[in-house]
Amino acid sequence: MSRDLTGKRTILTGASGGIGRALATELVKAGTRVALASRNADKLNALASDLKALGGDVIAVPTDVTNPDDRRHLVDAAVSAFGGLDLLVNNAGVGSWGHFADSTEEICRTVMEVNFFGPIELTRLAVPHLTAGNQAAVVNVTSMCGRKGMPAWPEYSASKFALVGMSEAWRAEFARFDVDVLTIVPGMTDSGFQNNWLRTDGKADLRFDAGMTPEYLAAKIVSAIRKNRTETVVGSEARRLLRFNRYFPRLTNWLIARKVKKLYSK
Ligand SMILES: NC(=O)c1ccc[n+]([C@@H]2O[C@H](COP(=O)([O-])OP(=O)(O)OC[C@H]3O[C@@H](n4cnc5c(N)ncnc54)[C@H](OP(=O)(O)O)[C@@H]3O)[C@@H](O)[C@H]2O)c1
Repeated sequence: MSRDLTGKRTILTGASGGIGRALATELVKAGTRVALASRNADKLNALASDLKALGGDVIAVPTDVTNPDDRRHLVDAAVSAFGGLDLLVNNAGVGSWGHFADSTEEICRTVMEVNFFGPIELTRLAVPHLTAGNQAAVVNVTSMCGRKGMPAWPEYSASKFALVGMSEAWRAEFARFDVDVLTIVPGMTDSGFQNNWLRTDGKADLRFDAGMTPEYLAAKIVSAIRKNRTETVVGSEARRLLRFNRYFPRLTNWLIARKVKKLYSK
């Protein structure tokens, strides 16, 4: 199936961030109408003005995805502005970089709320509208950490694994509604993600500045939506790591553990 994006009525969360902003632009260029959501109203309004200048039909809906009233308001606002809903892109997310043993329950619960409970409850509200939509889909932006748990990313990995698992279950469930479920699995992206982490004391030579650009990833996501690709791994290091792990899981774990021991023995 090839999805025609012209006029598709879309909700995009995390629109004010690096990947979200690039994705909002790409979605508008593809002809979709977008309800832009994230907490920062000023950033959202500025983005909405920029996109309107490009000819985009967009609305800004300040939303905390962890807040039930905000989620309801977002869906209602998008449906009333556009007359329905065809695409929900769950992109909002937060990271935390540090080891589990000296992390906290609060960090774990926050990461799970933003990366898992928020998007799944938003999806629950969106499903009745998507069911009545045109070539409808839920698009979940997960992470390579959602396919391979990584040290110093314990809560984040767990939250993204949970979202990957939920996507797989939904795929079969939502088939009866004619709603597709697409999973995006990005690797490192130079988006400014690290500026918003809850913890920053992990140890590793993480080169986000050498990662792909948000614009590259956004183009891949829009292409995946058009081609209706079930799961799309984006980024060369993510593809390499996940492939290596599939064929040599024990060796991969041993190499990663050796690296962590070395980093923490200094
Ligand atoms: N950058 C990477 O290397 C990378 C790799 C793989 C996957 N990802 C995933 O890609 C997605 C986008 O990340 P990014 O790199 O663009 O990071 P980012 O620049 O930190 O953007 C995160 C976005 O999520 C929003 N957000 C955070 N908490 C929220 C909440 N409670 N309610 C609503 N919106 C919230 C932020 O906006 P407000 O602060 O205004 O709410 C922002 O728009 C995330 O799901 C991330 O896990 C990123």
